[in-house]
Amino acid sequence: MGNQEQCENQGKSGDPKKTFYVTTPIYYPSDKLHIGHSYCTVAADAIARYKRLRGFDVRFLTGTDEHGLKIQQIAAQRGVSPKEYVDGIVEGIKKLWGLLGISNDAFIRTTDERHRVGVQRIFQKLYDQGDIYKGEYEGWYCVPCESYWTKTQLTDDGKCPDCGRDVELTKEESYFFRLSKYQDRLIRHIEENPEFIQPVTRQNEMLNNFLKPGLEDLSVSRTSLDWGIRVPFDEAHVIYVWIDALSNYITELGYAADGGDALYKTYWPADLHLVGKEIVRFHTIIWPAILMALGEPLPKQVYGHGWLILEGGKMSKSKGNVVDPVILVEKYGVDAIRFFLLREVPFGLDGVFSNEALISRINSDLANDLGNLLSRSVAMVQKYFGGALPPERKAADVDKELIACALAACTRVEEAMDKLQFGGALTEIWRLVSRTNKYIDETTAWVLARDEGKKARLAAVLYNLLESLRIIGVLIQPFMTETPARIFAQLGLDAGLLARWDDAKTWGLYPGDASVAPGPIIFPRIEMEKSLNELEGLAKTDGHGGQGGQESKDGKDEKDGKDGKEASAHDAV
Ligand code: ME8
Ligand code: MG
Repeated sequence: MGNQEQCENQGKSGDPKKTFYVTTPIYYPSDKLHIGHSYCTVAADAIARYKRLRGFDVRFLTGTDEHGLKIQQIAAQRGVSPKEYVDGIVEGIKKLWGLLGISNDAFIRTTDERHRVGVQRIFQKLYDQGDIYKGEYEGWYCVPCESYWTKTQLTDDGKCPDCGRDVELTKEESYFFRLSKYQDRLIRHIEENPEFIQPVTRQNEMLNNFLKPGLEDLSVSRTSLDWGIRVPFDEAHVIYVWIDALSNYITELGYAADGGDALYKTYWPADLHLVGKEIVRFHTIIWPAILMALGEPLPKQVYGHGWLILEGGKMSKSKGNVVDPVILVEKYGVDAIRFFLLREVPFGLDGVFSNEALISRINSDLANDLGNLLSRSVAMVQKYFGGALPPERKAADVDKELIACALAACTRVEEAMDKLQFGGALTEIWRLVSRTNKYIDETTAWVLARDEGKKARLAAVLYNLLESLRIIGVLIQPFMTETPARIFAQLGLDAGLLARWDDAKTWGLYPGDASVAPGPIIFPRIEMEKSLNELEGLAKTDGHGGQGGQESKDGKDEKDGKDGKEASAHDAV
């Protein structure tokens, strides 16, 4: 029996549960996070919740990537130490994840002592075995920016892409990782494991644009940088971003740490690294090469999701067009934001974020379709039967289509989720929401209610509505953190039952003795114009005390993958 098969067979009672390890990128705490970072973290959270509901032993990791010149500079401008600076931002980030209902099991900071030890041991091992060697790094240096650029990163007329000033060709002693040595193995791995890089378009991009043209060895240390982890055998050097950052996925599990690697043994290799498309190559070329050098297994999948862009282009501080998730959550509620993020844009692709689109979605899908369905159904049970349905219920043909739709929903959601098609999964759930609303129109309960002789039929109709809502409540759990329990409360169901995912595959589990409990409207309608104006006012004052981050004074945004130096300047992949 192959490894794969053995794994598949676990999870039945008595056996250890199958594990599922999912990660987000560790974000730069150079400034407070925006809706783009929230997008990736909410997606990872939906997968983590879904896998837990399916019975997996899940580990969900997120965190912060705290070293580097950018943060050193911002802290210096503010007259605080880098650590003091990031401590404040990280506090805000944790608060944001709390607000968004993120269920991460761990939060790693690259300033954690255990991470430092792990990274230094990894570096030492690679050096001892000859995969890291000392050489000379050549780059174009911008003195005012204190940044190195490769030739291709310079502007067309050869200036600093950040500030537009002259750059000088400099040489610096540096340690290099033998990336080139792993090129052929990487190509083979990608070709033999079509699941490794997803979506598939990113696979071709990696092969054709980076791997096949040839890899150069990678500079992995700097002497010009202070804020980072020291090369253990050469104090003059600080370990450069990617070995430090990428290793987080294993150091957090205790790899190469004192105190045991039980977590590493349990959860590695990761099932899924969820990352934005701009850092797919670091995760599918540099990271696997490091793991190959360490003799460790590779993550099973790296998924590169698309960007949320605003009408004026990708979100960026310098453009002043970032969207603050704290404001949105405080205004519209966590579930509306989570729903919108996962519903609006197909996950692998770029998509436009706008407040108008958000409000329209809330009004149509949540207030109208789901919210009304719940309040109408529960109100009718209350009105016609005092809250509890009688046991005499008369079925009719029209019920069959609703029941078939409800019974198909769960499997379709599973199929979509297994491909990380969050929008697709939500579309399937909303197919049931719409079908149930249509059923209300078809069965006209209010007409049945006028006829004493049709009580049994009316009871059946209302039972079917409650039953459909019960299934919807179970299925929306990966996406929404508060609404499922609110729906169950109004249905008169024990919230403990929500944990039973497979109950969504059976029709007729709504208990005969339950009583509905009409409650507040779950998604109030939003007045578009008024709300947009309020948002604009809030964005101007930014006085919500949310994440506690400060705007970066220089107005530059290194967080943008494409031209930000932290993401691309150092790496000649
Ligand atoms: O790159 N739309 O950190 P970072 C969608 N520290 N997703 C977005 C986004 C947008 N507009 N903006 C950011 C780093 N993201 C490194 C990672 S990992 C070992 C080191 C999300 O703060 C997206 O997932 O720049 C992207 O990859 C990530 O935030 C980059 O965050
Ligand atoms: Mg970035």
